[in-house]
Amino acid sequence: MITKSIDKAVEALINDEIVALPTETVYGLAGNAYNDTVVKKIFDLKKRPSYNPLIVHIKSASGIHEIAMNIPEIALELSEKFWPGPLTLLLEKKSHISDLITAGKKTVAVRVPDHPLFLDVLHQLKFPLAAPSANPFGSISPTCAEHVFNYFDDSLSVILDGGVCNRGLESTIIGFEDNTPVLYRHGSISIEHIEKVVGNLRLYTKNDTQPDAPGMLSRHYSPATETYLSDNVESLINYFDGKKIGLLLFKNQFPNNSIRVQEILSKKGDLAEASRNLYAALHRLDKEDLDVIIAEKLPNHGLGETMNDRLQRAVKK
Ligand code: TXA
Ligand code: MG
Repeated sequence: MITKSIDKAVEALINDEIVALPTETVYGLAGNAYNDTVVKKIFDLKKRPSYNPLIVHIKSASGIHEIAMNIPEIALELSEKFWPGPLTLLLEKKSHISDLITAGKKTVAVRVPDHPLFLDVLHQLKFPLAAPSANPFGSISPTCAEHVFNYFDDSLSVILDGGVCNRGLESTIIGFEDNTPVLYRHGSISIEHIEKVVGNLRLYTKNDTQPDAPGMLSRHYSPATETYLSDNVESLINYFDGKKIGLLLFKNQFPNNSIRVQEILSKKGDLAEASRNLYAALHRLDKEDLDVIIAEKLPNHGLGETMNDRLQRAVKK
């Protein structure tokens, strides 16, 4: 059930339950990272394949040394600059971090979330929290407590309500190769922003020697409704003439009365506002019993690049 009680969340976590918690990015399905039975429960609840590792959430940057070792200097610099915040670092795991969490990888994903309720919970616990986004595998991430409730209903005893996530897109994931940062997932901190600290950032590619990064799965973040992404929305509208169409647009309404629903992400054309609204708009469109959702490509820089990445993966191939 949805609650605002931090005590209930803490109690449930101590009792080895899975609890939905708000972060600044999206809601997470959190559980004791030091208990494999709990971690297994998270995978089961989410129907997530065991090859897809989880992020470990810690309460402060100094806790990084409890989780990881041989940490590159540049990673420490990034953690100081961006934590608490939507940056996840892939670091060499310490041996006590379970292979279940890391899906057998030698690296562990770590971040300090920037949400007062999540941090409050972490401060009351003696263990870090493993938490993937609180959605069934492959579907749209939740950015408010109701989204989580709609997915998991009674299978969660506590959904801690922290309001609407103010970033609205998952964390940016950075790994390291020979101490050089590599981008594994676009996220709430733009590449441009990170490059100000680390210089040019290389994008992880499938040819890399490291195992696959499942965050890069081509089909992910998907509505149930057939979805298209284009910078020529009008031609798709014409193509689907006669169908029930929903539009996902950046800032301008489309002048056509035959469109069922139009979601405008930011009337003033602000990418941060659009990011905050993106998943909620997709959730709403997906409930409208439409034949098709047509999404407009966003300006491909800053957070626009992250949103295009997500929408690309939302498209059915
Ligand atoms: O903003 C976020 O990061 C949210 C909130 C709840 O913190 N969490 C989130 O978790 O998005 P999840 O599990 O939905 O996505 C984590 C991504 C997955 O795509 C996973 O494959 C990748 O991180 N990941 C985790 N550990 C990894 C590792 N060792 N190597 C490569 N990718 C890893
Ligand atoms: Mg996810």
